Amino acid sequence: MSKALDGVRILDFTHVQSGPTCTQLLAWFGADVIKVERAGAGDITREQLRDIPDVDSLYFTMLNHNKRSVTIDTKNPEGKLVLEALIQKCDVLVENFAPGALDRMGFTWERIQELNPRMIVASVKGFGPGPYEDCKVYENVAQCAGGAASTTGFDDGPPVVSGAQIGDSGTGLHLALGIVTALYQRTQTGRGQKVLAAMQDGVLNLCRVKLRDQQRLERTGTMKEYPQYPNGTFGEAVPRAGNASGGGQPGWILKCKGWETDPNAYIYFITQAPVWAKICNVIGKEEWATDPNYATPAARLPHLKDIFGEIERWTMTKTKFEAMQILNKYDIPCGPILSMKEIAEEPSLRKTGTIVEVDHPTRGKYLTVGNPIKLSDSPTEVKRSPLLGEHTDEVMAELGYSHEQISAFRTAGAI
Ligand SMILES: CC(C)(COP(=O)(O)OP(=O)(O)OC[C@H]1O[C@@H](n2cnc3c(N)ncnc32)[C@H](O)[C@@H]1OP(=O)(O)O)[C@@H](O)C(=O)NCCC(=O)NCCS
Repeated sequence: MSKALDGVRILDFTHVQSGPTCTQLLAWFGADVIKVERAGAGDITREQLRDIPDVDSLYFTMLNHNKRSVTIDTKNPEGKLVLEALIQKCDVLVENFAPGALDRMGFTWERIQELNPRMIVASVKGFGPGPYEDCKVYENVAQCAGGAASTTGFDDGPPVVSGAQIGDSGTGLHLALGIVTALYQRTQTGRGQKVLAAMQDGVLNLCRVKLRDQQRLERTGTMKEYPQYPNGTFGEAVPRAGNASGGGQPGWILKCKGWETDPNAYIYFITQAPVWAKICNVIGKEEWATDPNYATPAARLPHLKDIFGEIERWTMTKTKFEAMQILNKYDIPCGPILSMKEIAEEPSLRKTGTIVEVDHPTRGKYLTVGNPIKLSDSPTEVKRSPLLGEHTDEVMAELGYSHEQISAFRTAGAI
């Protein structure tokens, strides 16, 4: 079966996490992703957080499936010639170097346009134009600068960063959308363009509801769905909301049976208004369904702490899975707090290809997260990440170089 991005060639200059998540998605959709790495070392993540000596780390393998690897010294004059040939052959150049690095290599936007006016040049940077544009940025810096950290955690504690890599993988997703959009526009204009996804912007986009709340707070001085209401105080900025739900349906994380020893024996419970009477029945507080202090969403807001306390007395008598099963029968929205172990072992995620077992020549079998986006006409087949420089000769031959020329480039240290 054909793939959505068949025929699209990506010159992949990405490293670490943000850029590689983007090009991995494009590869899963069928693009030919040629990852350019430094000879001898490669993407720094190959050797970071290794669990097996001298073997590509899970960090690298899980971010670079379905790609080909070529090693080119981009600072070597002959290496630059090879890169020029690649730029002429590819549709998209994706990079997430520190600001200015591509220009310092000699590949400015103008030079790339000279070589290939159809080339789309896509970049992840920490910040867009402004006071921080020259800064190097990693995941947690972006979470802090994009508004996620100041709005995550509990009111009486420090800002907290999330386990979800919204700065890196989140920005990679944004960039991938920018790239396919630019490819689509190119079908009309015939021209390439620059695509920029700044990590601060990507995180802020995911924190959109918190900027909504900032303006609500400034207008009204309070926000009734926040745990600070009605007894706490609101300051000038959106406070940390603990585990409160983002929208108008109050929710909280509650203990389940076994919480004393299992750090994940918890359930997220939402007191959705239409099922309030059912919630009262399940937890044995039938009188709350008609009591004017509890019967309406507005009446309940000042009592949320007591309400969740009472619901928790019930959830603590059930495992999170038992509670889930009972509550779902009544359409009461809830979600078990799943550990990574439970997710890795979940059969339904294996069945959909969201969790995939991959075989690797030096590592053996390992688990990875497959393509979370499912296309009915472009199925994803997850293939192992490339070894360093595994495809250098193959790609050089596709560029039209002879055996002798490839050997000469190698002798010159270009590849
Ligand atoms: C992630 C980041 C902080 C890492 O910084 P770093 O390890 O110092 O790496 P840099 O991006 O500065 O690149 C290092 C150098 O390697 C060089 N290099 C990269 N590939 C090369 C190759 N194949 N051959 C020769 N040189 C190469 C670059 O030209 C650059 O050289 P220069 O500084 O002399 O111009 C930085 O790349 C960054 O801020 N990127 C943008 C934001 C981002 O994506 N962050 C999230 C990462 S998950």
